[in-house]
Amino acid sequence: MNLLLGLIKTLNKPPHSFTDTELSNARSEYLTELRQARDSSKEEEQRIIEKEEEEDEEKTNGEEKKNEGGRPTVTIAIAGSIINNTQSLELATRLAGQIARASTIFRIDEIVVFDNKSSSEINSSSVTNPSDSNNESGAPFLVRILKYLETPQYLRKTLFPKHNYLRFVGMLPPLDAPHHLRKHEWEQYREGVTLREKAPNSEGTLVDVGLDKCVVVDQVLSPGVRVTVAMGTNRDLDLVRQIVPPSKPREEGGMYWGYKVRYASHLSSVFKECPFEGGYDYLIGTSEHGLKISSSELKIPTFRHLLIAFGGLAGLEESVEEDNQYKGKNVREAFNIYLNTCPHQGSRTIRTEEAMFISLQYFQEPISRAIGGGEA
Ligand SMILES: C[S@@+](CC[C@H](N)C(=O)[O-])C[C@H]1O[C@@H](n2cnc3c(N)ncnc32)[C@H](O)[C@@H]1O
Repeated sequence: MNLLLGLIKTLNKPPHSFTDTELSNARSEYLTELRQARDSSKEEEQRIIEKEEEEDEEKTNGEEKKNEGGRPTVTIAIAGSIINNTQSLELATRLAGQIARASTIFRIDEIVVFDNKSSSEINSSSVTNPSDSNNESGAPFLVRILKYLETPQYLRKTLFPKHNYLRFVGMLPPLDAPHHLRKHEWEQYREGVTLREKAPNSEGTLVDVGLDKCVVVDQVLSPGVRVTVAMGTNRDLDLVRQIVPPSKPREEGGMYWGYKVRYASHLSSVFKECPFEGGYDYLIGTSEHGLKISSSELKIPTFRHLLIAFGGLAGLEESVEEDNQYKGKNVREAFNIYLNTCPHQGSRTIRTEEAMFISLQYFQEPISRAIGGGEA
């Protein structure tokens, strides 16, 4: 459809008068556009990924790697293949924006974007390095847009150099999360980025926290690292501040402080590479073929790290079938429970992004009951 609309605009002709060649050219043009977006700035993207890894490492000094004894977390896993079926880079960007909005609205802690790589590909660099241009899947694209949108606006220029993938992000509605603070707003915590400039009269590091003046933190860190700074209530910007783990605003202040994003080469590695101590302790799969239980009757056991999975066009069933780790297992064996969260659907298919909104609303009450009325 969008292909046709694009052609109408470009050729200024009614749709019925397009020749097969014109249609085929339009398709190739779109595919080339996507490929170019993937291939260009390869080195630049590699640099960003390395910087992000370094940043994640330094950010918390290892404090946050395992969430030990902290509050319960909710992770969503989503098939990156949903991007492959979009008709243009602009629509792919909009779709990623919807996933980011749903995750923020429902206070999701972690998003895992899973690919469907075969075992031979898994051993190749295209999987360990999602920026590899041989990697034709939409998963790395989705990862990048989700990370970009979660980052406060004032840090994006520093943390995300120009990239083709980001061409249409400007048109997306903002997430407007509590850590996306404006210049005039004062909050107990602020996200910041460490600067190269030396802090005056101090051993510490200068950090841009999106205020008129940069603040000094008492740790020595390399430049370009995203950090969470405790701002307290004293508005004197000359005070030396402290860096805290990014989980602190939520754990201590109950403020939603954004989601983390992770890439997984296939469904089973979503679980295997879990960053939380002890792994995910309750796994929910979603599908129109799942069990029909009303939200008020659904019992989710008390959990520390809950995971809810959403499939692509062919559902989680295909993700399990294509994953060697499951070796002929049924999709129901991959999860603790397999659920239909919209039993009376009027459309033959519910799209993944729609299912996310429907399901996350459906799970609100059961999750709240499982954690004893608190917030996950
Ligand atoms: C296009 S659907 C895939 C259709 C597939 N037959 C299925 O298993 O639902 C994409 C994803 O949306 C979610 N979904 C679609 N319909 C759903 C429903 N009624 N209940 C729960 N999730 C649903 C599932 O995560 C599914 O993998």
